Amino acid sequence: MVDHPPAIFVVFGATGDLFNRKLAPAFFKMYQSGWLSDAFAVVGIARKPKANEEFREQVKHAVQTHSRGISATKLESFLPHLFYHQTHFDEDEGFETLRELILFLDKEFHTQQNLVFYLATLPHQFHSISSKLKKHGLDKTNGFCRVIIEKPFGKDLQSAALLNRQLSDVFSEEQIFRIDHYLGKELVQNLLITRFANDIFQHPWNNKFVDSVQIMVAEQTGIQNRGTYYEKAGVLNDMVQNHILQLVALTAMDAPKSLDAKDIVTEKIKVLKQLHSSNRKGNNVVVLGQYRQGTVDDKPVVGYREEKDVDPYSNVPTFAALRLEINNKTWKGVPFYIRTGKRMPKNSARIWLDFKSKTKPLFQNLSQKIHSNHLEFRIQPDEGIALFFNVKVPGRKLEIKPYHLDFCHECEFALNTPEAYERLLSDCLHNDKTLFTSWEETRYAWKVLEPIKHICEHTVTECPTYLAGTWGPKEADELIEKDGRTWHAPKDYTGGKNGAY
Ligand SMILES: NC(=O)c1ccc[n+]([C@@H]2O[C@H](COP(=O)([O-])OP(=O)(O)OC[C@H]3O[C@@H](n4cnc5c(N)ncnc54)[C@H](OP(=O)(O)O)[C@@H]3O)[C@@H](O)[C@H]2O)c1
Repeated sequence: MVDHPPAIFVVFGATGDLFNRKLAPAFFKMYQSGWLSDAFAVVGIARKPKANEEFREQVKHAVQTHSRGISATKLESFLPHLFYHQTHFDEDEGFETLRELILFLDKEFHTQQNLVFYLATLPHQFHSISSKLKKHGLDKTNGFCRVIIEKPFGKDLQSAALLNRQLSDVFSEEQIFRIDHYLGKELVQNLLITRFANDIFQHPWNNKFVDSVQIMVAEQTGIQNRGTYYEKAGVLNDMVQNHILQLVALTAMDAPKSLDAKDIVTEKIKVLKQLHSSNRKGNNVVVLGQYRQGTVDDKPVVGYREEKDVDPYSNVPTFAALRLEINNKTWKGVPFYIRTGKRMPKNSARIWLDFKSKTKPLFQNLSQKIHSNHLEFRIQPDEGIALFFNVKVPGRKLEIKPYHLDFCHECEFALNTPEAYERLLSDCLHNDKTLFTSWEETRYAWKVLEPIKHICEHTVTECPTYLAGTWGPKEADELIEKDGRTWHAPKDYTGGKNGAY
């Protein structure tokens, strides 16, 4: 039986979208699954005036809306652990009263002065919050004191470095947990296990056998009332700098010395150091796009420029397709194609490894095409892994058919899978940084992105548009087709059935 450390979680931004959709359900699920000891409290902070009871109602509603398999009794015993504290992030008085509240809750819940601050706020507010925490002595306790920071970490390398310096004035690197919730997803963690616990996959995982890699993160949603944020971020900062580059690093890294966080980070950094947009004369290596009015899931949707808080002449991209290369012995010559965007036909995050197809003299007289093999990781939804290969159709005539073997995560593990935020909050409590990103990784990820942004600034004067509900602008198809390849279409799966495709 694992002992879960007592702690007070203090969440800045506790009336926001992230708190309601992800954090509140995660705290409750942790409590319900016994991942929190009874010695815990959650303090939510925001500007809106609210009594504790109103805050508990807000959390109850958020849990009921965004969680499955809720025990009503557990929910009732969870709510008294929640407290609301109203303050503006710039107000000294609010931090002084926060200190008093924390002292009171520590006595009440026996939390041994362990504190986890969660900054679910905009990055420009991190400095104001951390300096106030220091000023009011909240950065030092007799227990542990950790801080979780949301992405995006800065808007470019320079601002990220400044942000890091400001945070480092208050917290040491050991205390800072930079969250990238993609790393908390089961299938992302399974990527390392599939690679390193299975010799059949480990051996061909290199440029001798792999022809190309595709990574896709497609979202059906638009910007969901987050126009102010998205106008500053765009797809490159919102998706590529963090989630996508982490997926590239995990797919391409060499085996770490151990499963310790620092050894995994070392290998990921080696990949990021050698990662760059490929240098193809005359051919695009980056394609950006912006969705225009269209239909998603049979419902009409507005274009990006018509969204709330978006400039009607905005050139901010909501889609990117990239061709990246890794300049090391293992991956030299293997293109990594990236495709990510909003208002795509479906939600789908997947990685495909396409294996090289050697000419097969045995089958040269066969009129039909022999498909090359590929391995597919479905990160979300329909989590799973599928291996595609060829089989013989029964009969005297030689006919070959492509087939896939499928591992369906939910069929095997049903609802026992924790959501990414549950796993990550719990890891922070246990001081396990394996699934968090270090400053060095963040720094190198910005270094990868800077030249890509530079290319965009110099080549994309007007962002091409794409119809909402499609897979992006036609230029993205051209990017890959010029290499004689095509994008994988994310096919639907029906619960772990193996079969022809
Ligand atoms: N939403 C997501 O799915 C998601 C996913 C990944 C990362 N993130 C990141 O998480 C952060 C929060 O995102 P969000 O979508 O939750 O934002 P949001 O919905 O705009 O919520 C912002 C929260 O911060 C509070 N706040 C803002 N300014 C404040 C101030 N000066 N003083 C006190 N409270 C203040 C707001 O309180 P009031 O309501 O009282 O104004 C609200 O609770 C952002 O950095 C975002 O990039 C979000």
